[in-house]
Amino acid sequence: MNKVKLSTLPIAKGSTTEVTLAVASYKNCGVAKNGKPYIDITVMDGEAMVSGKAFSITAEELEGISVREGSVISAKVEVSDFNGRSYTFSDIRLESNDSSALVQLVPMPPHDPEKMYAEILKMIRHSADKTAEQRCGARSGLGEFVCAFLEANKADYIKSSAALKMHHDLRSGLVYHSFRMAMAAICMTKVYSALDAELLVSAAAIHDIGKLRSMTTSELGMAAYTSDGVLFEHLLLGIEMLNEFRLTYEGELEEEAYRLLKHLIASHHGKKEFDAITLPAVPEALVLSMIDDLDAKMYMYEKNIAQLEPGAISDKNRLIGTSFYRPDRG
Ligand SMILES: [Fe+2]
Ligand SMILES: [Fe+2]
Repeated sequence: MNKVKLSTLPIAKGSTTEVTLAVASYKNCGVAKNGKPYIDITVMDGEAMVSGKAFSITAEELEGISVREGSVISAKVEVSDFNGRSYTFSDIRLESNDSSALVQLVPMPPHDPEKMYAEILKMIRHSADKTAEQRCGARSGLGEFVCAFLEANKADYIKSSAALKMHHDLRSGLVYHSFRMAMAAICMTKVYSALDAELLVSAAAIHDIGKLRSMTTSELGMAAYTSDGVLFEHLLLGIEMLNEFRLTYEGELEEEAYRLLKHLIASHHGKKEFDAITLPAVPEALVLSMIDDLDAKMYMYEKNIAQLEPGAISDKNRLIGTSFYRPDRG
């Protein structure tokens, strides 16, 4: 896969460069002066999203060679000066429709989404065993219920972003955030050993599951709110998803454990001003809301500091009220 970035290509009318790109969107645009159709196409090159035109081709012809949103393509690009940098794509060919080919072209988490998903299931089952041990062998069935719930939502859970912007706002951001939360939850049960590990880790894995209904995520990871997202927010939508799944679930599930799981989801934003439905009433809910806040902020620190030069300090971030500094250690 070549590493050419569109923003650094020189303006050179008449000369083209071969590039590999991910397709964000495309649409028929009309007919050019020469009477031939052309399309608008938006692509990602591993660094930025760029829009341009492709002449003498229709959206249907593109689909005829199996190109769609999320495809990796190769194309020739010409950069000209027309109200700023103007991109014209030609000789578009499909490279791959496998989402793993997107890795170098769109922002992705640092770990493989499938592996993070498998680890989450493992952490839930491990914590269920730990809780059963603490309860002299009594099992609530909560961990298995949550694993079955995740399996039923696996494809969307693995692909979804976790936000429009701010934290984990990338393809597979939801599974990445949930994976870090589950790991943080396990660490907290080592410090505060009376915590119900099965409840806390299960809730960490699915606390934001309502985002599968409150947002849509494009193939390249861009999220947008749904009308239900605006009307009800992801906490309520997540509880609705659980209740619907419960109606079809045939395994054992203790009622009180299920009730607590829903409480943890309802309270995971910690404060009413942060859209929590209710406030944490059990220690697991308090811990969940705090590690959620921590993980979101950690992501913002990591992302913003990575964009700074060593020794540089950023403007104040309005969301968390601080500047970011990148230490200069030579
Ligand atoms: Fe949330
Ligand atoms: Fe979250």
